[in-house]
Amino acid sequence: MNLYNNPELTLEKNANKNGIVGWKSPSNIALIKYWGKYGRQLPLNPSISFTLSQAYTQTTIEYKQKKKANKNLDIDFYFEGKLKPEFARRINIYFKGLLDIFPFLSQLKLEIKSDNSFPHSSGIASSASSMSSLALCLCSIERKLFDTDLSDDEFYRKASYVARLGSGSACRSIYPKTALWGKIDGIKDSSDYYAIPVRQYMHDNFRKFHDDILIVSRKAKSKSSSDGHAIMSEHKFKDGRILQANKRLHFMIKALKAGDLDKFGEIVENEALTLHGLMMSSDPAYILMEPKTLELIKKIKNYRKNTKIPVFFSLDAGPNVHVLYPDSVAAKVQNFIDHELVKHCKGGEYIKDYLGSGPKELDF
Ligand code: DP6
Repeated sequence: MNLYNNPELTLEKNANKNGIVGWKSPSNIALIKYWGKYGRQLPLNPSISFTLSQAYTQTTIEYKQKKKANKNLDIDFYFEGKLKPEFARRINIYFKGLLDIFPFLSQLKLEIKSDNSFPHSSGIASSASSMSSLALCLCSIERKLFDTDLSDDEFYRKASYVARLGSGSACRSIYPKTALWGKIDGIKDSSDYYAIPVRQYMHDNFRKFHDDILIVSRKAKSKSSSDGHAIMSEHKFKDGRILQANKRLHFMIKALKAGDLDKFGEIVENEALTLHGLMMSSDPAYILMEPKTLELIKKIKNYRKNTKIPVFFSLDAGPNVHVLYPDSVAAKVQNFIDHELVKHCKGGEYIKDYLGSGPKELDF
């Protein structure tokens, strides 16, 4: 299904259209993890995430109408100031798949410049921020070239749909604070095709929330998320996992609405361990955690037990540890991180992040 098939979005010959658009778009941390997909980038289970703020990608696209139209895409891609043909190839494949949505792309010469706020080699997943910023840029080009009168809601929904085709988790980065992706009983408008904003579910306890990212390793992962998703489709626990994620999502929404930090933390930590448990029980089995990951997890749990301070861990598909806590305990937790945890981080490095207000369009 293509909700946005737009064969009429083509430029007239020699219309001499050119311009520039740009977006800054954040990463996100999943509370209920998307793990496994089917069809064209559709999730096996629904997921919900917090949108971050400090870990973001800034992308600009300068476009010029080609003198002579042809079917090929013409893309130069610069990452952190350097021409990157290997990334351009990936974007080429992604954009080719979008030609039924944005047929005008083959009529343009595109110069894409992308920068991450976090170090490229930090092991932080950048596909959510990079693909969401690209998708937003494409929607902005469409709006500029064709004066499409989409409402803001329609614009962001389309951007989320397009971002999903680049990377599943990217569709959630389109929305501030909290986003939900995947059809789930009882939640109006939820869809496998795009994420929806769900900040209305958030109790004040979650309005200002921190997510500090402790860097355990900067190495590229031994298995990509895409490979991990593929292995899930044959996983012996697949059906159970789908049921579990659906149930947990309802409990998570209940906890977010009630401001129940303990329940929130229990689900978030179980989800992180389930994700890695699924990796360790898949065929072939693999491990992405490092000894330091477990050491940090134990320290966080002990600290919580001894102090009763609500601080929780989460993990992405990698060894780095996310530390989640409300603003009300920020001073104490940051002191704990600085004195007890930083020494276990690679190069003493960690990224201080928190819930953010979503992507921002750049002015030119
Ligand atoms: C563990 O969105 O990176 O971070 O759709 O293949 O690009 P692709 O995968 P990706 O997977 C993210 C997996 C996760 C959980 C999550 O963010 O929900």
